[in-house]
Amino acid sequence: MNLSESLIGKLKKSESLVFFTGAGISAESGIPTFRGKDGIWNKLKPEELANFNAFLKNPQMVWEWYEHRKKIIHESKPNNGHLAIAAFQEIFRDVTVVTQNIDNLHRRAGSKNIFELHGNIERNFCIKCKKYFNEEINLSLGVPTCECGGMIRPDVVWFGEYLPQDQFRGGEIASENCDIFFVVGTSGVVYPAASLIFSAQRSGAYLVEINIEETEISGQCHESFFGEAGKILPVILEEAKIQRGKTV
Ligand code: OAD
Repeated sequence: MNLSESLIGKLKKSESLVFFTGAGISAESGIPTFRGKDGIWNKLKPEELANFNAFLKNPQMVWEWYEHRKKIIHESKPNNGHLAIAAFQEIFRDVTVVTQNIDNLHRRAGSKNIFELHGNIERNFCIKCKKYFNEEINLSLGVPTCECGGMIRPDVVWFGEYLPQDQFRGGEIASENCDIFFVVGTSGVVYPAASLIFSAQRSGAYLVEINIEETEISGQCHESFFGEAGKILPVILEEAKIQRGKTV
């Protein structure tokens, strides 16, 4: 795999990086993506599972699905892609992860500055009083409820819902102020998250895509690397170390 002269030059001179990630970064950890071959939304209907009305209609079913995903996530580990992103923190002043994933794997890999656009599967909240809960859910006791009587739901963004504004704004500021914006493992079709790609582009960032295949946003990027994130990110990391004199 060859890096372009432009990217090598950017790695040498840049101070601030954003990694905008999607389900593809976690695919090598064994967590299914949403679209493409074997994608979750090929087999299951988002309108029945990732939607507030579906939750009101059948909270037990929605909970069972999230508990199933949580189990897969708990059994998985950060992969070389997550670990490489965390390692960039050792060589650049300012590294921000803006993720659409709810799986916590960036945090477990050691990334510090993370904006979670679509929530986090480890957190829950009451739909009535909005109190947060981190405790494990025991679904055999039924749908969990708050002491106020409201149902507790996973703290993830469902279709038709607003993104957490502090997370989106934080991601937007980072995107508008970075030198290199890496778009990793996302189809780039879900908005408003994908709009950050254009915020970075308008602000003059160098856009680098890493994906196993061409996407709708490939044409917007300065360069695309087609292959697994867990293989490509470590190569870019090693080059950055060379350019910045951080090799041991
Ligand atoms: P998608 O499933 O739409 O896209 C995953 C992308 O990862 C695809 O473009 C794949 O080609 C790519 N990919 C797969 N394996 C890869 C690998 N090993 N290395 C690099 N790329 C790989 O997932 P997202 O773009 O994250 O939202 O989807 C965005 C949102 O749609 C999700 O956050 C979720 C979903 O509905 C909510 O639940 C609100």
